[in-house]
Amino acid sequence: MILRELVSLPSFAGDVEEGLLKRPKSLPCKLFYDRAGSALFEEITDLPEYYLTRTELAILHDHADQIAAAAAPGVAVVELGSGTAAKTCTLLQALSRRQLRVPYFPVDISPAALADARERVELQCSGVSVRPVVADFSHGFAFLRDVPGRKLVLYLGSSIGNFDPEDAVPMLGQICAELRPGDALLLGTDLAKDPAVLLPAYDDAQGVTEKFNKNILRRINRELGADFDLDFFRHVALWNAKQSRMEIYLESSRPQTVTLGLLSLRVKFANGERIHTENSYKYTLSMVRNMLEPAGFALDRTWFDERKWFALHLARV
Ligand code: TRP
Repeated sequence: MILRELVSLPSFAGDVEEGLLKRPKSLPCKLFYDRAGSALFEEITDLPEYYLTRTELAILHDHADQIAAAAAPGVAVVELGSGTAAKTCTLLQALSRRQLRVPYFPVDISPAALADARERVELQCSGVSVRPVVADFSHGFAFLRDVPGRKLVLYLGSSIGNFDPEDAVPMLGQICAELRPGDALLLGTDLAKDPAVLLPAYDDAQGVTEKFNKNILRRINRELGADFDLDFFRHVALWNAKQSRMEIYLESSRPQTVTLGLLSLRVKFANGERIHTENSYKYTLSMVRNMLEPAGFALDRTWFDERKWFALHLARV
């Protein structure tokens, strides 16, 4: 496994300290994905309310051959935020029908998820050689230089939607800057829709999403010697129509002070005070274009599911 940005891995403490000292308080969503968090997110993707993963998978299934043809022969596949690569196999299989060798570079912040990704792909896709890369995208995309030849970069799961547009555009710009003419980006985006569909997707009946959101506090307790009492924080999911995004918070249900032992930090919470943990933007096609074009990409094709709940976009350099 290629281990990049090793020096930056201890930054968990720094990210937590910075976020809890902010007003309003916030924690970056990448902190969700320790081993337990990655496993809980896998559970979310199976929930009846969480339509995103299965809808994107259906689009990949239905259009794998067209997508593979559009990517054209001889590409290496780089998947940003691959997780356990549960969605990628159909596309890799479609590609391996068109080219002899398919190098596949899953890139993720979680080494545990990458180990699963390697096992899954090696088992299910013959002709694909897997080379996992551990990386934190907040430190850039230099690892793309280590991938020889033409590239198809996958950024699925509407993970782009976890960035505000003012951060998403420069990030896509950094990716674009590492690519050559002929390379392509396949971008998954969730689409704007009825909040009656969106809200339960981020606040499910079984409480898995609540557990996932609170896992960030559990992780802080464990790794930074903190004493967050999970019973006094509520999981809150709101639809912000103006910004076209879901907003996720942890809300304190009483006035309280939390101690983070290893940071020698005490953090006060008012009753009802929130920690913002994630935004998840829901796009229209023009929002997608307005994000891709200033980053240097040209939108070539878009594939939808039947209900037009989700979209996959092929963008070219
Ligand atoms: N990228 C996922 C999304 O935006 C992450 C996610 C799903 C999530 N459910 C969540 C993040 C609940 C925080 C809380 O859909």
